[in-house]
Amino acid sequence: MPLVVVDHPLAQHLLARLRDVGTSPPVFRTLAKRLTIALVLEAVRTLPTVEVEVQTPLETAPGRTITPDLVAVPILRAGLGMLEAVTELFPEITVGYIGLERDDATLRPTSYYEKLPPMGDRHVLLLDPMLATGGSATRACTSIAAKGPAQISFVCVVAAPQGVARMQAEHPDVPVFTAALDRDLTDNGYILPGLGDFGDRLFGTEPHLGAPPNP
Ligand code: PRP
Ligand code: URA
Repeated sequence: MPLVVVDHPLAQHLLARLRDVGTSPPVFRTLAKRLTIALVLEAVRTLPTVEVEVQTPLETAPGRTITPDLVAVPILRAGLGMLEAVTELFPEITVGYIGLERDDATLRPTSYYEKLPPMGDRHVLLLDPMLATGGSATRACTSIAAKGPAQISFVCVVAAPQGVARMQAEHPDVPVFTAALDRDLTDNGYILPGLGDFGDRLFGTEPHLGAPPNP
């Protein structure tokens, strides 16, 4: 399944401002929401639609409506910064939650919460801004896939090559939509150049970039 890098100028403009270390949490939240809209528009581009007739005030007009039932699943906590964009675009969407936290030393995710709705025949938008080692995204995909959805699409803000490779190896049927494919990871699993710890920047918590590498 493809890796889609959304290079729309507006998406890239918003990403550049998100990366900026000087962007404060209130502005960061607004930018994250706006960028998610641009990413999700791309992620739903291939959703099936049906042709409908709508009555305008003047006459009937042909139209198309999206058919599948959509489910949004943010990975807590940083994925919450992408949720409101999706619920505004699709007010009827069902929302599930997956809580994962990466261990600083092993970089493996630990699950602390999971609440998923029935998935049969539904199209899932899995939301997590950072695809670093890919441990969190693949783990979430495995949980969701066990519930048998029609399709999962993973939407993130920045992806590292390592995370993309892991997604393609473990969940080759899940397309990845991102605003950037970055260069590498630090020894602590942070994306380079990246934008730092998304959750901390979103919620204004202490910068948390892991232990410094050994000198
Ligand atoms: C961050 C991020 C992803 C994960 C990505 O979450 O939001 O979920 O790391 O890293 P990976 O691809 O190596 O798994 P974190 O565990 O820091 O939790 P948070 O969202 O609560 O800050
Ligand atoms: N999680 C983040 O928030 N940022 C990274 O660069 C990697 C994981």
